[in-house]
Amino acid sequence: ERDGFEHYMLKEIHEQPSALERAVNGRVTAEGDVHLEDFPSGSFAGVDDVQFVACGTSYHAALYARQLLAERGVPAQVFSAGEYATTPAPVDENTLVVAVTQSGETADTLASVRQADAAGARTLAVTNVVGSTAARECDDALFIRAGPEIGVAATKTFSSQVAVLSLLVERLTEDITGSPGEDRAGLLRALDRLPGDVQQVIDQSGPAGLADRFRDREGHFFIGRGVGFPVALEGALKFKEITYEHAEGFAAGELKHGPLALVTPDTPVFAVFTGRHDEKTLHNVEEVQSRGATVVGVGSEATPEVAATVDDFLPIPDTHPAAAGVLANVQLQLVSYHVADLLGRSIDKPRNLAKSVTVE
Ligand code: F6R
Repeated sequence: ERDGFEHYMLKEIHEQPSALERAVNGRVTAEGDVHLEDFPSGSFAGVDDVQFVACGTSYHAALYARQLLAERGVPAQVFSAGEYATTPAPVDENTLVVAVTQSGETADTLASVRQADAAGARTLAVTNVVGSTAARECDDALFIRAGPEIGVAATKTFSSQVAVLSLLVERLTEDITGSPGEDRAGLLRALDRLPGDVQQVIDQSGPAGLADRFRDREGHFFIGRGVGFPVALEGALKFKEITYEHAEGFAAGELKHGPLALVTPDTPVFAVFTGRHDEKTLHNVEEVQSRGATVVGVGSEATPEVAATVDDFLPIPDTHPAAAGVLANVQLQLVSYHVADLLGRSIDKPRNLAKSVTVE
């Protein structure tokens, strides 16, 4: 059932190309329009406030979507569902509350949408599970079609969430601003080639050779900006979850506001480059290098200046920055997997964690 893979997590990492095919299949027309089943053009007309609620990895996918919306001039907020459930944001009938939840059963996320619904908001579940509570209780549902995920650590469902949320972002942008996002064609092209690009990352298996450097370290830091920021958070979450080693993710620009005090030669830093504002992130890399930290850069194979500055380089195919984050995240998934494997951790069932968190 694991198809020869040692762990479900590794199998699910390898399933990402086919999961991404399904996520996007039939949802982009030959004319380059977004075709989202229940959500034709105009479905979100009148929405003037977008609020995402989610936990964990799904929260990071929501942050990714918020970044894409912001780049398109559409403001949106992202709430940790555990917070929203106790301190909900004001809503009215023009508020769209989007619950991002792989399982569709996360208690805090359900509590959040129930409150939003009772307060008159429109609710939408973005989920992997068709018969889930979130899919049934929200006004609408959009399915990510990733297939079952057995490993407790979310991998393929993050990638599929981001792909489907990217399409939703395009629909929201068009409906809320009255015109399509200006780089829609580029984004849709990147989504179309994403399965092949992810396959290329998997085939290189770069992180396997690096894993040995990340045992017995004091801490591991992950930095990025733009969509690279949620990828940094997700990289750190996966790392702590399955290796049990200390890891933190930061917005690259936050480094000098505190975390830099922790950086030493014993704290490797993973830096995510998406092709947007890379020069600023390179500057942050130099700051940590001057404190003796070694830096693993994850970025496009077409950026020699990044490759030349970082200590180790994990390349991703050259693509649109909006898709580059997904590719960088696959590299970081593989880093965490290989380090956890080396340390002999219980990769598919990390201690203290459950696949779906059904209590608040
Ligand atoms: C991390 C992980 C968790 C889930 C979180 C939300 O690898 O799997 O952080 O992302 O518990 O779960 P869903 O998406 O089912 O609401």
